[in-house]
Amino acid sequence: MNNKVTPTHKERSLHDDDFIVSKTDLKGRILYGNRIFIELSGYSEHELLNSQHNVVRHPDIPRGIFQLMWNMLSKKKEMFAYLKNMSKDGGFYWTFGHVTPSYDDRGNVTGYYSVRRKPKAEAISVITDLYRAMLEQERKAGAQDAPNASLNYLNQFLEQRGESYEEFILSL
Ligand SMILES: Cc1cc2nc3c(=O)[nH]c(=O)nc-3n(C[C@H](O)[C@H](O)[C@H](O)COP(=O)(O)O)c2cc1C
Repeated sequence: MNNKVTPTHKERSLHDDDFIVSKTDLKGRILYGNRIFIELSGYSEHELLNSQHNVVRHPDIPRGIFQLMWNMLSKKKEMFAYLKNMSKDGGFYWTFGHVTPSYDDRGNVTGYYSVRRKPKAEAISVITDLYRAMLEQERKAGAQDAPNASLNYLNQFLEQRGESYEEFILSL
């Protein structure tokens, strides 16, 4: 659905007390979005429900970040990430998000759940530079190798800082 949307420079900001919530099935199809998620997206609830979550994907986010997200989720781990999302009109909003599996009472993963908050401006400045460098690696590597190329870059970046991904993200 978002393939036809052209990104613009129109930025929307979250309020300090906003929580953006969405829930998906195991394949990342949206099953629920709270009011603020729907409003910021610019889509109707009807358009969002049952769409893939990449409906709000912004091209400035490296594919490697989503690969990392799905790798972590497949290991039943939670993941924190700074995500820039794109609205229906091409505008964008930055979030600091937490994605985690949801379980049934037998411990089986039934889907995924995400809560996002307003990020700090200083964090976005660090992340923008990092993602730009990761995207550069993806461009050089070509479509097929893009996620691995940018994840290699991210791993080297973390190694140089002597931090795990989580330590780095939570320190921003
Ligand atoms: C619970 C949950 C929340 C997600 N939230 C977002 C989001 O806010 N923005 C986004 O671009 N992708 C989000 N994703 C990841 C998408 O499912 C998808 O992997 C990503 O947009 C990349 O899509 P693509 O590989 O088709 O380009 C989320 C996934 C899950 C499971």
